[in-house]
Amino acid sequence: MELLKERIRRDGKVKGTDVLKVDSFLNHQMDIKLFAEIGREFKRRFADCQINKILTIEASGIGIACITAQYFDCPVIFAKKSQTKNIAGEVYTAKVESFTHGRVYDIIVAKEFLGHGDRVLIIDDFLANGAALMGLSKLVEDAGATLVGAGIVIEKAFQPGGDMIRARGIRLESLARVKSMNEETGVEFVD
Ligand code: G4P
Repeated sequence: MELLKERIRRDGKVKGTDVLKVDSFLNHQMDIKLFAEIGREFKRRFADCQINKILTIEASGIGIACITAQYFDCPVIFAKKSQTKNIAGEVYTAKVESFTHGRVYDIIVAKEFLGHGDRVLIIDDFLANGAALMGLSKLVEDAGATLVGAGIVIEKAFQPGGDMIRARGIRLESLARVKSMNEETGVEFVD
């Protein structure tokens, strides 16, 4: 998506070799006109997939998922991150290991919101190691729902998540795929 790549080139800030800060338009201050174009593009790519639920994870995925859902005319569920040790009852749970933050947390979704017959699109802002996406796909599987695919705004293609997800046969649509990053020269995209 050229508009997005241009914005990343212009306003993204590279930290070291593997962190891309996009706080000014994506995950702190949010450019809603850009989000509308992102949502339109996800709709174009997943048109005719009969998606009836969008699933994301708190916090940064929520805004993008909500704008995208307007194009699909469906609800958004966001998985909650939980520190609670004993989660019982009517929830699906998965463990997510955050390599960036060096910790493991549980994600949960109430069973009443996801089940057989649902056709789910996962939406998130970043794909790095793929741990969050794997956790979300497990929730969909445990619910007996169909995972139609995953829409990612920025895939860091030099990290293992994208290849791992594709190898599992999950349809992955990333709007910007970063090949490499450098504080001096900026961001290079895959295509
Ligand atoms: P993974 O889910 O793909 O395995 O990613 P990882 O554990 O490495 O990333 C953990 C968090 O860091 C995620 O947000 C992810 O979106 C974010 N992240 C990863 N790489 C980058 C990056 O280069 N730039 C920015 N800005 N964020 C990155 P989170 O912990 O779920 O936090 P939240 O912001 O969604 O609340």
